[in-house]
Amino acid sequence: MEPGKYHVALNSRDGTKIIIRAIRPEDGDSLREQFALLSRESVRFRFHGLRGSPSEREAIYFSEIDFVQHVALVATLSTGPEQIVGGCRYIILDASKGERADIAFLVLDEYQGRGIGSLLLQHLARIGKSQGVREFQADVLIDNNRMLGVFERSGFPIRRSTELGVVRLLLTIT
Ligand SMILES: CC(C)(COP(=O)(O)OP(=O)(O)OC[C@H]1O[C@@H](n2cnc3c(N)ncnc32)[C@H](O)[C@@H]1OP(=O)(O)O)[C@@H](O)C(=O)NCCC(=O)NCCS
Repeated sequence: MEPGKYHVALNSRDGTKIIIRAIRPEDGDSLREQFALLSRESVRFRFHGLRGSPSEREAIYFSEIDFVQHVALVATLSTGPEQIVGGCRYIILDASKGERADIAFLVLDEYQGRGIGSLLLQHLARIGKSQGVREFQADVLIDNNRMLGVFERSGFPIRRSTELGVVRLLLTIT
């Protein structure tokens, strides 16, 4: 499997036709536009605090990646002009010999609750597993029930610990 060429067409739980594909450098501008559509709560959950729109430099960091240490997928609508409605990424943690990666997810508010986040997790895990990653690590704010629910229903064995309002989950993906 070539993570940088990943591309699958799917139906989400509510029947929305989506594509999950590898992020591309030209998606950087869309990521910045996407940020402007997010609720304050989604920004807080994703970044553990409020912050402004990503700078051009950050957009490059998020979209121009090596697909080895840093792998990112986007979910787009299959119908109409291409629109990114969500995304996820993993970044291999230093000193983990490539076996543990930090993960993060984001789905536009309007598209949350349709199963897109759960699909992104399954496809990210599929890629991770093929690349030798054994564990995904996620730091989730304690009141982010939706993200915690997605992990709990994923079927992956989970270990969890909580510190200062942040739940750290370790998902075994092998
Ligand atoms: C967290 C997030 C990524 C989840 O993505 P999502 O697309 O909303 O997730 P899903 O639709 O797959 O799952 C969430 C909901 O679907 C429901 N669901 C999931 N799988 C289900 C299933 N098999 N059957 C029925 N319902 C299901 C859940 O009950 C949940 O419902 P809720 O609305 O009552 O919470 C998204 O909500 C988001 O971007 N939030 C803001 C940013 C964020 O929190 N990022 C995470 C930082 S680590």
